[in-house]
Amino acid sequence: MPIERPAALGYGAGMTSHSIYPAQYPASRLRRSRAAPWSRNMVRETMLSPADLIWPLFVTEGVNLEEPVASLPGVSRWSVDGIVACADEAIKLGIPCLALFPNTPADRRSEDGEEALNPDNLMCRAIRAIKAAHGDAIGLLTDVALDPYTSNGQDGLVDASGYVMNDETVAMLVDQAINQAEAGADIIAPSDMMDGRIGAIRRALEMRGHHNVQIMSYAAKYASAFYGPFRDAVGSGGLLKGDKQSYQMDPANSDEALREVAMDIAEGADSVMVKPGMPYLDIVRRVRDHFNIPVFAYQVSGEYAMIEAAAAAGAGERDAMILESLTAFKRAGASGMLTYHAAHAARLLNARNHP
Ligand code: PBG
Repeated sequence: MPIERPAALGYGAGMTSHSIYPAQYPASRLRRSRAAPWSRNMVRETMLSPADLIWPLFVTEGVNLEEPVASLPGVSRWSVDGIVACADEAIKLGIPCLALFPNTPADRRSEDGEEALNPDNLMCRAIRAIKAAHGDAIGLLTDVALDPYTSNGQDGLVDASGYVMNDETVAMLVDQAINQAEAGADIIAPSDMMDGRIGAIRRALEMRGHHNVQIMSYAAKYASAFYGPFRDAVGSGGLLKGDKQSYQMDPANSDEALREVAMDIAEGADSVMVKPGMPYLDIVRRVRDHFNIPVFAYQVSGEYAMIEAAAAAGAGERDAMILESLTAFKRAGASGMLTYHAAHAARLLNARNHP
């Protein structure tokens, strides 16, 4: 028996209850599923967990040293022992991976950044100390680029005119990556944006027997105004001559990001990154839709600083802004996020799940 088809529920003449779904008010009230917390929990499309977070940490020389970074309130540089303690905390919180960045002492910076190749540099000592303490309990992602080591703050070798040379830089980056892999790095993360470096690094890793060392390519990295506090943290900000627009991407471009990602996948990247994060979630979504590869996004230092400044100014609730911003990355398709809020966000998430 056909049932009644009230016009008030959106049925027109001749429509049957079987042939049409009356997705109109009032048959459909999207607020129904939002009315109670249990229901909101049940229909939520995106889940955030500590396993989604990669925690960037800044390493500095010394012992038992914590140096707050003025432009990144709440973030410090730690001496190697402090970094090991951070790793300990990350493991307890369920954070799977750390991203390490060195604040190289000024007297170890040079035109050609050769400290990057020193097997005893700050980065390698931090890697060895964490691996000695924690082994495979946590992953280590290490930054490949020359800017923490060059006296001009550029990511590569410059010619007489100040232009960052591609192929000469790639040769250095290959040696830098091998240096980190040999110290025990799990994921090599080239952030330099030279052409061809993923393939060159992959070949060198295979030749040296590092078959299981991954590469997470900073594939779509933009020449952004949101990196300022990071440059303070690694001490390259005051040194930087010029800008990075001849190698990092133009913020106006989107199709080009897909070409960058396609090339890095073809060269052997295990995962790719989009950076910065929140202003580039459209890129995250496009990469996610085009490729079958894990896509990470970096909520960069300037984004962190904006949230902290907004919270300090009373313009928003800090914890809620942090979790909402990270949820937005996942909704856009990110497999995970690098964020300076990682430890705090993991604490919030763990408290939410085990109150
Ligand atoms: C440099 C590098 C940068 C960041 C990560 N690696 C800065 C830059 O490209 O100048 C930025 C990270 C952040 O802002 O949090 N190779």
